[in-house]
Amino acid sequence: MTTSDLVELYIEFFRGKGHSVIPGASLIPENDSTILFTPAGMQPLVPYLLGEKHPVGRRLVNVQNCIRTGDIDAVGDPSHLTFFRMLGNWSLGDYFKREAITWSYEFLTGRQWLGFDPDRLHVTVFGGSDQVPPDHEAADLWIEVGVPRERIYSLGMDDNWWGPIGKTGPCGPDTEMFYDTGKPSCGPDCRPGCSCGRYFEVWNDVFMQYRKTASGTYEPLALRSVDTGMGVERTVAMLQGHDSVYGIAEYENLFTAIREAAGIRGEPDPDRLRSMRIIADHIRSAAHILGDDQGVSPSNLDQGYVLRRLIRLAARHGMKLGIPEGFAWKLAERVVDFEGDCCPELQRNAVRIREELEREEELFGKTLQVGVREFHKLLPNLKKNPSGVIPGRVAFRLYDTYGFPVEFTADLASEEGLKVDMEGFREAFGKHRELSRKGAEQKFKGGLADHSDLVTRLHTATHLLHAALRKILGDHVTQKGSNITDQRLRFDFSHPDPMTPEQIREVEERVNSAIRSGLDVTMSEMTPDEALAEGALGFFKDRYGDKVKVYTVEGFSREICGGPHVGNTSELGGFRILSEKSSSRGVRRIRAVLEERQ
Ligand code: ALA
Repeated sequence: MTTSDLVELYIEFFRGKGHSVIPGASLIPENDSTILFTPAGMQPLVPYLLGEKHPVGRRLVNVQNCIRTGDIDAVGDPSHLTFFRMLGNWSLGDYFKREAITWSYEFLTGRQWLGFDPDRLHVTVFGGSDQVPPDHEAADLWIEVGVPRERIYSLGMDDNWWGPIGKTGPCGPDTEMFYDTGKPSCGPDCRPGCSCGRYFEVWNDVFMQYRKTASGTYEPLALRSVDTGMGVERTVAMLQGHDSVYGIAEYENLFTAIREAAGIRGEPDPDRLRSMRIIADHIRSAAHILGDDQGVSPSNLDQGYVLRRLIRLAARHGMKLGIPEGFAWKLAERVVDFEGDCCPELQRNAVRIREELEREEELFGKTLQVGVREFHKLLPNLKKNPSGVIPGRVAFRLYDTYGFPVEFTADLASEEGLKVDMEGFREAFGKHRELSRKGAEQKFKGGLADHSDLVTRLHTATHLLHAALRKILGDHVTQKGSNITDQRLRFDFSHPDPMTPEQIREVEERVNSAIRSGLDVTMSEMTPDEALAEGALGFFKDRYGDKVKVYTVEGFSREICGGPHVGNTSELGGFRILSEKSSSRGVRRIRAVLEERQ
């Protein structure tokens, strides 16, 4: 069974259980400033999990491309990936635990479905905390479908609890399904959830039945929902009998090229195997991020920073294996060829993927040259130290200021008969990370998919801005990205040149005049074709489902959009553009705010 077979089968199964198929969302979250990348299939559905009506119904199924940056350091082990595809089925206030668990078991073990050996299936359930009781109901349902009690494990919040991703919001216990690879246990405490690679988590059913409040308590939710996630790569690997995700064709395809470029024959040693895995994972992620229609480029900020880190880490491991520079694109090309059918955006953006990877590798090469030069400047002083040890903070400064990786410093040091104090380096690094983490927490504070008043108003202002830009600059203007916080909107759009101050004023004035006119904002549901026929703007065609919401600002703008929006433009206040600058080639970025009217 290949990944596309699995995706097809899953969709067919849940279609048969009354679910409507919806498309996956972009990897770059729209209008959600709380996260950098889409980490799970539920993320784009948060407004619906919070009670908003979904246009196609209360049972949904899809496959979603995901990025989990938090797992970047775990990549190299048998199961962690930064990019993966996730299958999911959702009940929005419809069915609950009984159906979810019964169907999970049927799909995993049914002969005409995945046909996993039921004796190798282990499950975990929520065992309770000081605030929330154990999920006995889930455990009883597993017993009812046929899982023996000794293969049901009760674990705590760290293992079997999902959400909220922000500080408050919907959350609940989950139940996770593991496949036993049959490899020997790593010790007496080895059980599902252990990272040694014996048990592979393939699926997670989350039961959203609580709301975490600002005071930290859990209140039962009136609308109870189900959110599930099956890891495509892991499940296919188990179905094919591999002992790591890297056995599947998506990675074999990359491994073949890596082996060839590095001259690796036979079994690589563990260090080299880890490097091969990191290269394959990171380049696959980078290809999908660069291939996304939202168009992120490597940079020192937000998504661009993660992308840069993935590419440079891959390049570094490439060097370790003796692979010549300029290899990243060749691998990415394989990703585009292999996955172009399931992810057509990869093909649409193939040229961009190539150009950005080539440029980033070249830049990295230059960074290394600068790092070597700076190291040599420091060398005479370093040599004066009789201990022969380079202090960790010096190595960290080279890393922090010039992007020079510590392994390279260590290599140069050993050529000079010196050593780097790695412990000291890690300490300096940890301190720095703690500071950035605090910064990031502040930055991303606020709830998951924050639909506060101001966010809703900024959302409507974004539609007005989009329409005004098209009026003033021309119809070539299309949305390339949108990000709203509870402070400001940010809108990326295609336009080749900087806007003139005059154009900026005109756009501002058009938006403000729409606000002053007090135009009604209305919503109707229709098929994407009907929406486009009615002149609604919508540029993400393969991301729409059978039915979409169309928001109309009377006589001013009409767009396909999930909402929510204000009811009348008079609610917005004064619109002001703070800045207009380049975001990437051919794409401009506007930041704007709404101000209280005097
Ligand atoms: N949202 C749940 C997960 O990603 C299903 O594991």
